[in-house]
Amino acid sequence: MQKIAVIGAGLMGTGIAQTVAQAGLDVVLCDVDIAIANKAKARIEKQLGRLVEKEKIAAADAQAALGRIVTIADYAPMADADLVIEAATEREEIKRKIFAAVGDVLSADAILASNTSSIPITRMAAGSPDPTRFIGVHFFNPVPVMKLVEVIPGLATSAATIEKVKAFAAQIGKTVVEAGDEPGFVVNRILVPMLNEAAFVLGDGTGNVVDIDRGCRLGLNHPMGPLELADFIGLDTCLEIVNVLFESTGDPKYRPAPILRKYVEAGWLGRKSGRGFYDYSGPEPVPTR
Ligand code: CAA
Ligand code: NAD
Repeated sequence: MQKIAVIGAGLMGTGIAQTVAQAGLDVVLCDVDIAIANKAKARIEKQLGRLVEKEKIAAADAQAALGRIVTIADYAPMADADLVIEAATEREEIKRKIFAAVGDVLSADAILASNTSSIPITRMAAGSPDPTRFIGVHFFNPVPVMKLVEVIPGLATSAATIEKVKAFAAQIGKTVVEAGDEPGFVVNRILVPMLNEAAFVLGDGTGNVVDIDRGCRLGLNHPMGPLELADFIGLDTCLEIVNVLFESTGDPKYRPAPILRKYVEAGWLGRKSGRGFYDYSGPEPVPTR
């Protein structure tokens, strides 16, 4: 593959664009507003600058990677993309509108992939331009660091699409796990109930923020505690995933923790909004409970 389009220049779209550009592919990075896409490119420039400072990459390579990223706010420049990766907000109605718009420009042999954390691929494929060329390609945060890509074929996804996407993952240096199209796929089915449970443990007063996170960091050797990680992912995204698990299985074990729902209602979305289980307004995160 040579040219990739990324739709949604948030946390994940930014990381995907950086990773793809560093692997030598051209990227068009799209958001609803060109200012958002430009801010994402500025964040990538900063990240690449850090890698140069740490002597992880050469300055010329950072410059070349940045030069391969073009920011856009329309669909026409995706017409010659080999792969379009949708990484917009985790809401099915938003994604469906995007797939319809991509349908107007997607070339005859290009693939449309969704980076959804939990929404069923087969269901979304039905609203895509060609279900045989639709697939889940699930990256992990922070994308430049995390080595995994989950590949989730839908019912109609062709064998050729699966192979091309696996080859793309290898091209950008990621390892693939193929997952069934079931709620949460493999990794989030296991991770997100744990994050939700940590919010229950906080809400019922069994532990405070510091002790829950310290407990899991020191007791389980996790790099981040579950509340820290939920803030890192985005509490809105976590809640959307829990809701998908709950609604699609009907199993009460997946019901969202009241405190998680409350925080999202308050606009406390974690790191991206400046407050979640921690307050990020100062130089160091401060636990809020
Ligand atoms: N972008 C690019 N690189 C980053 C980065 C970012 N946002 N954050 C950290 N890094 C790099 C650093 O440059 C550093 O690289 P070097 O070792 O080459 O110098 C390396 O990562 C380690 O960073 P730090 O030393 O600053 O920090 P750390 O050791 O505390 O690690 C972390 C940070 C990698 C994020 C680590 O805390 C971690 O692995 N946390 C857990 C992350 C995780 O579980 N992610 C999955 C979330 S679930 C998901 O993504 C799926 C979903 O659908 C919700
Ligand atoms: P985010 O909130 O950081 O960014 C979402 C971006 O999508 C925003 O910039 C928003 O403006 C943009 N957007 C919304 N509607 C759009 C449209 N119609 N066209 C173009 N852009 C649009 O979210 P995120 O954390 O980057 O998550 C994006 C996707 O990746 C979601 O499906 C999420 O579930 C998935 N995901 C998230 C994580 C994570 O850790 N946050 C990990 C893996 C997968």
